[in-house]
Amino acid sequence: MSTFLDDVADRPFIPTEYVVRLARTPWERAGYHALRRDVFCTEQKVFINDDRDAIDQVAIPIIAACCMAGIPDRIVGAVRIHQAEPGLWRGSRLAVHAEHRKLGRIGAELIRMAVSTAHGLGATRFLAQVQEQNVLFFRRLHWKSLGSVILHGLLHHDMQADLSRYPAHGQDQTWLLRPQPRIRQVA
Ligand SMILES: CC(C)(COP(=O)(O)OP(=O)(O)OC[C@H]1O[C@@H](n2cnc3c(N)ncnc32)[C@H](O)[C@@H]1OP(=O)(O)O)[C@@H](O)C(=O)NCCC(=O)NCCS
Repeated sequence: MSTFLDDVADRPFIPTEYVVRLARTPWERAGYHALRRDVFCTEQKVFINDDRDAIDQVAIPIIAACCMAGIPDRIVGAVRIHQAEPGLWRGSRLAVHAEHRKLGRIGAELIRMAVSTAHGLGATRFLAQVQEQNVLFFRRLHWKSLGSVILHGLLHHDMQADLSRYPAHGQDQTWLLRPQPRIRQVA
């Protein structure tokens, strides 16, 4: 006799609930830097050992955390924003943990929080340098390419967000619920 457990026994645990918010606590900041190191040093090898730079002194860090019983449990997403010159804000170091990509729109929500937060702080332009393989992802989120540039030896595009699509929302956190896969009916 089959049970619903037949379907889930070999499936890795994937949380259903995420929070995206401005990082405030030491725990959030430690997880934010650990995730950036995992993605940009270990996985992509863009930097050796440490990806921090002078922008970290002024940037606002934003994190995504997966939640257990409503409590943030692990940092699985990161991005930072900073004002480069009056009115011009930039986003950088966008990263989602490999096991949580293309699951719950975490990357898209990090971008929404980043741009809407900057908009609320007075941004009139919001730019990012986007790796080539992610240009389509950003285009779908209402960004346009201003041209290509080589950065850290990799092809990037200078891209600009359409601020009319990212109204200032004044929230410092939002919640995401991952859509559930359908469980087979028990016979
Ligand atoms: C790029 C990245 C942040 C995307 O995060 P993510 O959480 O997987 O993205 P989301 O789940 O929010 O994706 C939203 C939608 O875009 C799609 N998408 C995700 N990455 C994409 C890509 N590179 N190209 C095109 N579409 C993409 C998703 O499939 C999803 O589509 P759907 O709405 O039809 O389901 C993540 O892949 C990552 O961390 N990559 C490694 C680090 C990196 O490249 N950082 C960016 C440097 S510019």
